[in-house]
Amino acid sequence: MSDDAELLQIAKDAVHLAMPQVSKFAVGAALLTEDGEVFTGANIESPSLLQVFCAERVALLKALSEGAYDFSAIAIYCPDRPGVTPCGLCRQMLFEFAPDVDVILDDGDGKTRRVPLASLFPEAFEGP
Ligand code: THU
Repeated sequence: MSDDAELLQIAKDAVHLAMPQVSKFAVGAALLTEDGEVFTGANIESPSLLQVFCAERVALLKALSEGAYDFSAIAIYCPDRPGVTPCGLCRQMLFEFAPDVDVILDDGDGKTRRVPLASLFPEAFEGP
């Protein structure tokens, strides 16, 4: 199994912890640091306040809050939407905290696709 397929498998394992109470759309993510550490995430929705925390941001916030700052790849898995890509808010946050990250997408049948964040999010807003 390739490294990308392994990272996608970790995202797949994380999807079971998703709490998509409103959308019923479960997503898992696995964020790989330059040191080889992996932080997982699964989407969480708070029905009372209508807040949504995507799998990618959960993984990123877990990593940042534990002192990991350098990232090489993030894999995303969604059983209902193979090939799902990060939402606009996640792209912006990844751009700000993990600008050089590659996004590992699920191409189905065990295949993966590696896309640089920069190509998913060109001409990004860099802040004031
Ligand atoms: N979601 C993610 O966690 N990651 C994505 O890449 C796309 C969308 C979540 C947000 C929300 O909980 C649900 O999927 C439906 O949009």
